[in-house]
Amino acid sequence: MTRQEKQGGGNSAASRDIAHHLHPYTNLKTHLEKGPHIIAGGKGVRVFDDAGKSYIEGLSGLWCAALGFSEERLVEAATKAMRRLPFYHSFGGKASQPVIDLAEKLIELAPVPMSKVFFANSGSEANDTAIKIVRYVNNAWGRPEKKKIIARNKAYHGVTVASASLTGLAPNHRDFDLPMDGVLHTACPHHYRFALPKETEREFADRCALDLETMILDEGPETVAAFFAEPVMGAGGVIVPPAGYFEKIQAVLKKYDVLFVADEVICGFGRTGNFWGSQTFGLKPDMMTCAKALSAAYLPISALMVSEPIFQAMARESEKIGIFGHGFTYGGHPVSASVALEALKIYEERDIVGHVRDVGPALQGGLRALGEHPLVGEARGVGLIGGLDLVKDKAEKTSFDPAEGVAAYLWGRIEKNGVITRVMGDTVAFAPPLIIDREEIEEMLDAVSRALDETADWAAARGFI
Ligand SMILES: Cc1ncc(COP(=O)(O)O)c(C=O)c1O
Repeated sequence: MTRQEKQGGGNSAASRDIAHHLHPYTNLKTHLEKGPHIIAGGKGVRVFDDAGKSYIEGLSGLWCAALGFSEERLVEAATKAMRRLPFYHSFGGKASQPVIDLAEKLIELAPVPMSKVFFANSGSEANDTAIKIVRYVNNAWGRPEKKKIIARNKAYHGVTVASASLTGLAPNHRDFDLPMDGVLHTACPHHYRFALPKETEREFADRCALDLETMILDEGPETVAAFFAEPVMGAGGVIVPPAGYFEKIQAVLKKYDVLFVADEVICGFGRTGNFWGSQTFGLKPDMMTCAKALSAAYLPISALMVSEPIFQAMARESEKIGIFGHGFTYGGHPVSASVALEALKIYEERDIVGHVRDVGPALQGGLRALGEHPLVGEARGVGLIGGLDLVKDKAEKTSFDPAEGVAAYLWGRIEKNGVITRVMGDTVAFAPPLIIDREEIEEMLDAVSRALDETADWAAARGFI
């Protein structure tokens, strides 16, 4: 029976969804058969569906609901802000109080000195804005040929035409005619998958830095403007950089005068055990973007921070042109900004970074233990983000043929066992709400462990292993 039939067919919510709703990141054809999984509510780290089944949200929704699904203070903050001033914008020098407060707070919290904050509504918009600013300032600096941008294979920076171009994943490019010109992708720093036999993490990091340097030299350093990176790559498969990686990469960027944009959309606000992923891995960006946990995902808001030299160039260029001709209607929305301010207050009051450091080892230790399972090739992660790589043969690190559907089966079993997560390629990803406690982590990993055993039995019965 399809989910739609189970949910009542006819005029049910499921059939109305199938009739009218175009889903992101969904196989649109199979959705017509399968129908939606309708999530009806949430409490703490859990959500429940319209059939009443409860799940631990192992990915905080989309790596974003850092305070779980029932934080009353955020509801209050939104309600109050909406009563006071339901909308205002920042165009033409206008401002509202929550936006002023939030900009000041983010500058105070920034991991390296930053000068100004630009607000948008999504990670994609923040990264798209950063790309435009890279162009704008290089024109201001009188080097209009220095415009190319380098991101990495398996990076995820969003889905707008420009940010999807930075993203280094095939489904985001294929048949969208992307990436656009002027965007290049360098090596993915995943040691387990891409290191040579016997290559240490440091040697592999050297090779990644050399790959970047070779690309810059081949293109001509006078044409390469910026490098974008997530501290831990998220949607590409929770890839933690090898030891020494960012130190070496940043030396190359400095050598060729290439700006560094850190994408903190997932790592920002405690995820890796420091307030910023940049602190965990020693990044010194010229610009940085954040979103998701900025408002604990209760309302859409993202931010781009720029350094003083970048702001100075932008100011000069806008004076020349008459205006900085960029901005989103809802960027710096006073209600979203109020919710973000309250989220930041909660992170501080509850010492969310301390909590991640406290319970993070339970997640990391539990994942490493699952790494012993015959179906798991590598278990990795830091703080409250982690991944398990599924393999057909542990010694050879071979992947399953996607047509066998092993990853999809595992995903289904995990969900059946009461945990929502995401399987991306060969990787099962975990990024639970930052408020998760040890017992909930144990419960989550227990469900995954059972699902791995069930999947191994299923795959063996079909001769896949
Ligand atoms: C690291 C990173 N950057 C950017 C984005 C894009 O954010 P949005 O989906 O809000 O446009 C995401 C989304 O998952 C992300 O993980």
